[in-house]
Amino acid sequence: MNTSTLKENYLYSSRVFQKYSVKNAGAEWDLVFITNSHDETFELGGELGRFLKKGDVVALKGALGSGKTCLCAGICGALGVKEQVTSPTYTIIHEYEGGFPVYHIDAYRLSGAEDFENCGGVELMGGGGITLIEWGERVTSCLPNGAVYIEIKITDGGKREIFVKVTGDLRVKN
Ligand SMILES: Nc1ncnc2c1ncn2[C@@H]1O[C@H](COP(=O)(O)OP(=O)(O)OP(=O)(O)O)[C@@H](O)[C@H]1O
Ligand SMILES: [Mg+2]
Repeated sequence: MNTSTLKENYLYSSRVFQKYSVKNAGAEWDLVFITNSHDETFELGGELGRFLKKGDVVALKGALGSGKTCLCAGICGALGVKEQVTSPTYTIIHEYEGGFPVYHIDAYRLSGAEDFENCGGVELMGGGGITLIEWGERVTSCLPNGAVYIEIKITDGGKREIFVKVTGDLRVKN
């Protein structure tokens, strides 16, 4: 991953990133943001989504109700999905059509990697779409090189700290 490209060429010129970014993501993460509401988390997702291209996989980690689906909905909007994005907790996989397929997966109810493979998750990731996986840490061994890792933490005051780690090459399209 070319983190400096992301940061230097884009982070500091993006109004949305500037609005939410905080310094010192720490050694483990490339970027960290703080949002104060559902709408802010959604808006941040919309900005992150602009970096994604076909084949990219995003793994999201965070406690129940931390905002994974909310962030995914924002990402989907940026990818051209017009439908309302809802939680795939019970259905496991939702497929949307943006400029290309967007697969929104919730691994919460899966027992692990084998289960993920059996329900078609691995095959989907290899296709021509973008895959967003909530509770991605449950299927870590299935995640490809170059995946984007996001962790959402709820702060004492109820805000959301959103950490991003990029292991592949992520460049904004325009
Ligand atoms: N920055 C924020 N500050 C306060 N509330 C927020 C913030 N971002 C999102 N929320 C709220 O947090 C909740 C997050 O719900 P969401 O379904 O997105 O969580 P989730 O992580 O996907 O949960 P689950 O683990 O059940 O899938 C929503 O009620 C949303 O309005
Ligand atoms: Mg969710």
